[in-house]
Amino acid sequence: MFRIISRETLGTKIHLFKIEAPAVARKALAGQFVVIRIDERGERIPLTIADWDEKDGNVTVIFLEAGATTFRLGLLKAGDSIADFVGPLGVPSHIDKFGTVVCVAGGVGAASIAPIARALKDKGNEVISILGSRSKSLLFWEDKLRSVSHQLIVTTDDGTYGRKGVVTEPLKELLESGEKVDRVIAIGPTIMMKFCALTTQPFGVKTIVSLNPIMVDGTGMCGCCRVSVGGVTKFACVDGPDFDGHQVDWDLLSARQRTYLDEEKRSFEHWQAQVGKRC
Ligand SMILES: Cc1cc2nc3c(=O)[nH]c(=O)nc-3n(C[C@H](O)[C@H](O)[C@H](O)COP(=O)(O)OP(=O)(O)OC[C@H]3O[C@@H](n4cnc5c(N)ncnc54)[C@H](O)[C@@H]3O)c2cc1C
Ligand code: FES
Repeated sequence: MFRIISRETLGTKIHLFKIEAPAVARKALAGQFVVIRIDERGERIPLTIADWDEKDGNVTVIFLEAGATTFRLGLLKAGDSIADFVGPLGVPSHIDKFGTVVCVAGGVGAASIAPIARALKDKGNEVISILGSRSKSLLFWEDKLRSVSHQLIVTTDDGTYGRKGVVTEPLKELLESGEKVDRVIAIGPTIMMKFCALTTQPFGVKTIVSLNPIMVDGTGMCGCCRVSVGGVTKFACVDGPDFDGHQVDWDLLSARQRTYLDEEKRSFEHWQAQVGKRC
């Protein structure tokens, strides 16, 4: 069992859990994820390793309550335990001295981009980060991202904080400004990553995205996380999750993400009713 050492609510339905998992903390690298299971009958879901402390043996994950499992996870308290916490999984993000790198985070993508920005800055890159969310209540880790960036631009769709608008607007302006951008890394909702890739394509700037298809085992065995990149089938859990955004078949990814919408809705309603009965 894996103990929740502490928990914090970062925004509307967004929670941070620090989990006791020394073996994962020892090996974790930026860009990797874990597959968790609340109990032995629970479903497996992937969550990005947002931070880790090798010395204290703990790993930080941040999640948005999106459906049944994340809703159930959000009900757990510090001191509770979860059954499985498997990782680190996936290929770590490619960290090198690229020059100027723009790191774009949308929503809970901030949890994934922060360790990558930190690793890029440590490697000597000039890091410009763009942090965006739908509204102020969904924005978190502004300070953390600022501390690992040379420049930070914050946007909200509704203008409740920072600049009003979506992340692709300052991204396009940076590219048009003549500033030499050597690489863009975009992590967030599928639609946001797709539009970041479409924004950078005319400028020929390599754009890495972290794909989020449905995953089950996370070890390349079930085929559930199949994506198409450059016309070649890849398994996001073992070949990724980072891929060249200009090569991704976005329509296929979006369609596959919607495969179980009816079942997910029924499961969410079931668990909400269970909690309602207990209250
Ligand atoms: C590599 C990777 C890292 C991720 N990291 C984070 C993170 O750090 N924080 C975060 O909030 N979310 C993260 N996600 C998404 C997270 O796994 C889903 O939100 C979660 O599985 C939803 O489960 P649910 O039962 O609560 O909701 P459901 O109602 O079951 O699903 C809601 C939506 O989430 C997606 N989803 C459902 N089941 C899975 C699954 N087993 N694997 C992947 N996606 C699924 C589907 O698109 C679905 O429509 C990550 C996904 C991937 C692939
Ligand atoms: S999650 Fe099963 S192959 Fe990737």
